[in-house]
Order: sequence, then C-alpha cells, then structure tokens
Amino acid sequence: MKKTFLTNLLFLLAILLLTGSSASAETTSVCIDCHSGLSGQLGEIPTAEWHTSIHARHRVSCHDCHGGDPTDYVNAMTAERGFIGVPEYAAVPAFCGRCHVGVEEDYRESLHGQVVEFGGPNCVTCHENHAVQVATIDLINEVSCSRCHSYDKPALIKEEISTTEGVLSRLESSVASLYRVGFDIGRLQDDLFSTRNNFRRLFHSVDIEKIRAETAGFDAALEETKATIDELEKTLGRRKIAGGALVLLLILGGCVALLIRRTYEDHK
Ligand code: HEC
Ligand code: HEC
Ligand code: HEC
Ligand code: HEC
Ligand code: HEC
Repeated sequence: MKKTFLTNLLFLLAILLLTGSSASAETTSVCIDCHSGLSGQLGEIPTAEWHTSIHARHRVSCHDCHGGDPTDYVNAMTAERGFIGVPEYAAVPAFCGRCHVGVEEDYRESLHGQVVEFGGPNCVTCHENHAVQVATIDLINEVSCSRCHSYDKPALIKEEISTTEGVLSRLESSVASLYRVGFDIGRLQDDLFSTRNNFRRLFHSVDIEKIRAETAGFDAALEETKATIDELEKTLGRRKIAGGALVLLLILGGCVALLIRRTYEDHK
C-alpha cells in the first residue's frame, strides 16, 4: 500500500515538474504554430490527433513529451533547450513513464516489458502516440491483442477485470450525481480516484494469477466506498421526502389562504 501511495505521489510530482514550467501550454506553443503548417506525419497528423487526446484536455503538450522550448521559434528544437525528439521503440516506456510512474513499474515487471526489445508491445502499441484516449477495458480486444499472439489469455484477463470495472464505473457516476446535488464528496472522490488508478495499472502486469489475487482486494475497497455512497444516497432520499413534505405543506397553506380570502371576499 505504501509503495502505491509513493508512486502516486511521484506521478503527481512528475506532472507538476514537467507541466509546471509552461503555464499556458496550448495557446502559446511555437511547436503547434509551426508544426500545424507542415504536412503529413510531421505536422497536420500529429497536431490534429493530439487535439482529440486526453493529453490535450489536460494541457500536456508537444514539448511536455518531446522536450524543447515552446516559446522560442528559432531554438525550439535544440538540445540546449531540452529537445529529446522521437524515442526509439524500446525507449517509449521510459518516455511515457516520466509521468506514468506506477504504470511503467507494472509494465516493466510484465512479460511485455521484459520482451520489449524483441517484439513485445510498448505503450504506443496499445494507446497510440498522439491520439491517446481515456483507458478502458475496450482496449483489450481481439483485433488489437491478436496482432502478436492468441486471444485466449487476453479474453480471460478481460473477463476477470470486467466485473470490478463495472462496479467502478457505476460508483463513479453515483459520486458524480452526489456532487451535482451539492454533497461534499472530497474524501469519497479521493478514495475512488486512488482505487481506480491503482486498479487500472494492474492490467499492465498481464499476469492472470496476479490479477486474480489482487482484484479481490480492490473489490473489498470498492465495497467500502459503496457503503458510504449508499449512506449518502439514503440521506439524499430523506432530504427529498422532507423537501416533498415541505412543498406539500406550502401548497396546502396556499389553498387555505385562498379559501380564507374567498370567504372574506364573499362576506364583503
Ligand atoms: C519553425 C518551425 C518549427 C518549430 C517552431 C518546431 N518544429 Fe519540430 N520540426 C520542424 C521541422 C521542419 C521538422 C522536420 C525536420 C527536422 O527534423 O528538423 C521537425 C521535426 C520535429 C520532430 C521529429 C524529429 C525526428 O527526429 O523525427 C519532433 C518530435 C518535433 N519536431 C517536435 C517539436 C517540438 C516539441 C517543438 C516545440 C518545442 C517543435 N518541434 C518546434 C519544424 C518546427
Ligand atoms: C503523450 C506524448 C506525446 C505528445 C503530447 C506529443 N507526442 Fe509526438 N510523438 C510521441 C511519441 C511516443 C512518438 C514516437 C512515435 C511512435 O513511437 O509511434 C512521437 C512522434 C512524433 C513525430 C515523428 C513522426 C511520427 O509520427 O512518428 C512528430 C513529428 C511528433 N511526434 C510531433 C508532435 C507534435 C507537433 C506534438 C504536439 C501537437 C506532439 N508530437 C505531441 C509522443 C507525443
Ligand atoms: C508530461 C507528463 C505526461 C507524459 C510524458 C505522458 N502522459 Fe499520459 N497523461 C498525463 C496526464 C496529466 C494525464 C491526464 C490525467 C490522468 O488521467 O491521469 C494523462 C493521461 C493518460 C492516459 C489516460 C488515463 C486514464 O485516466 O484513462 C493514458 C492512457 C496515457 N496518459 C498514456 C500515455 C502514453 C502512452 C504516453 C507516452 C506516449 C504518455 N501518456 C505520456 C501526463 C503525461
Ligand atoms: C506487439 C505484439 C504484442 C501485442 C500487440 C500484444 N502482446 Fe501480449 N505478448 C507479446 C509477447 C512477445 C509476449 C511474450 C511471449 C508470448 O507469450 O507470446 C506476450 C505475452 C502476453 C501474455 C502472457 C502470456 C503467458 O504465457 O503468460 C498475456 C496475458 C498478454 N501478452 C496479453 C496481451 C493483451 C491483453 C494484449 C492486447 C491488449 C496483448 N497482449 C497485445 C506481444 C504482444
Ligand atoms: C498490451 C496493451 C497495453 C500496453 C503495452 C500498455 N497499456 Fe496502458 N492500458 C491498457 C489497458 C487495457 C488499460 C485499461 C485497464 C483497465 O481498464 O483496467 C490501460 C490503462 C492505462 C492507463 C490508465 C491507468 C489509470 O491509472 O487510470 C494509463 C495511464 C496507461 N495505461 C499508460 C500506459 C503506459 C505509460 C504504458 C507503457 C509503459 C502502457 N500503458 C502500456 C493497455 C496497455
């Protein structure tokens, strides 16, 4: 547990360090200015794909991955300004792992990580490079996984994590709706966020035994979160009943007032 906390902390620190130096990454980047005018693989493709990505939404821009200076047109891509360019195939995990510390750790220990020099998949094989989207278990599918081996084991892994994944998604939408009606969900959301991140990195081990063993622990943590949510939803239910009763009383009061006024006016 301590180890995962530490890696989460490292992840946050890495992001702060790597993105902090460029406050308004998206709007003032000379990388985007110049590259969006270049054609094909050098320009319009990476730029357009990046615009659709989760990284763009979180302001992780060209220079956050490739290095360089996004404010200096002339020296943008010089080594002095930290430009690292395009990583070799086997260097991609370290390239992405500067920010995704925990995921890289699980990946390194996996069969995939161990054989990355001999045809094992790197991060980009499964997530793409510029069009990276929110990760879901839909990334585990026959088309993608059977590029290199049979789909038997992937199918087992997908089945194993899909139940927990379903619970996780339902709880996330419950928390979102509690937030919308004004509940203080701070701790609840933190707990869920951390469970979610730790659970979704587990896949990278591609080790069915490990996944089976650890999924049980995640199910227990989610059970606890669910109990807290149920409690809050009950309070919400009571609030609704109380609110409903109040409205009823107000309507009743209004009718009585109208009746009194009518009787009074009739008597005039
Ligand atoms: C003035 C225009 C211009 C600016 C500004 C610019 N680039 Fe480039 N970039 C190019 C051109 C042209 C190439 C292809 C020729 C080359 O590699 O020098 C290129 C190549 C690249 C490549 C591929 C290199 C390779 O080895 O294949 C990457 C990655 C890249 N740029 C990222 C960036 C980033 C990140 C920034 C901002 C920090 C940036 N560029 C700023 C014009 C620009
Ligand atoms: C999330 C990290 C990330 C971001 C953000 C990113 N790139 Fe890349 N880019 C990569 C990786 C990784 C590769 C190596 C290609 C591969 O392995 O598929 C690459 C490759 C490239 C190449 C070489 C041509 C190619 O497609 O292989 C260019 C040019 C490039 N990127 C430009 C850009 C520009 C311009 C931006 C900003 C609009 C950008 N990149 C943003 C990760 C990133
Ligand atoms: C400069 C830091 C940085 C680098 C480098 C980086 N990312 Fe990200 N990545 C982020 C941030 C910030 C988010 C959005 C917050 C989150 O979801 O964790 C994100 C989100 C993601 C997500 C979606 C996670 C989710 O919640 O579903 C994936 C997948 C991902 N990145 C893959 C990659 C890959 C693959 C690379 C390398 C090509 C890469 N990242 C490089 C910072 C980075
Ligand atoms: C670029 C090729 C490549 C892709 C794509 C790929 N794998 Fe693999 N995978 C390998 C290699 C290489 C090995 C190690 C040797 C072997 O078992 O074939 C491996 C091993 C595995 C193992 C361990 C098998 C065992 O014997 O224990 C699992 C599980 C696995 N991959 C799951 C997946 C899943 C799930 C996907 C799709 C999301 C996927 N792989 C996509 C190349 C790939
Ligand atoms: C074999 C395919 C595969 C490879 C290789 C792979 N991923 Fe993933 N990744 C996935 C799948 C599938 C998920 C979603 C798992 C889930 O929903 O439980 C995921 C989830 C993620 C997430 C979301 C985790 C979270 O905490 O929400 C991030 C970030 C990520 N991957 C980054 C990476 C990085 C960085 C690498 C390389 C070091 C990498 N992935 C390598 C398939 C892959």
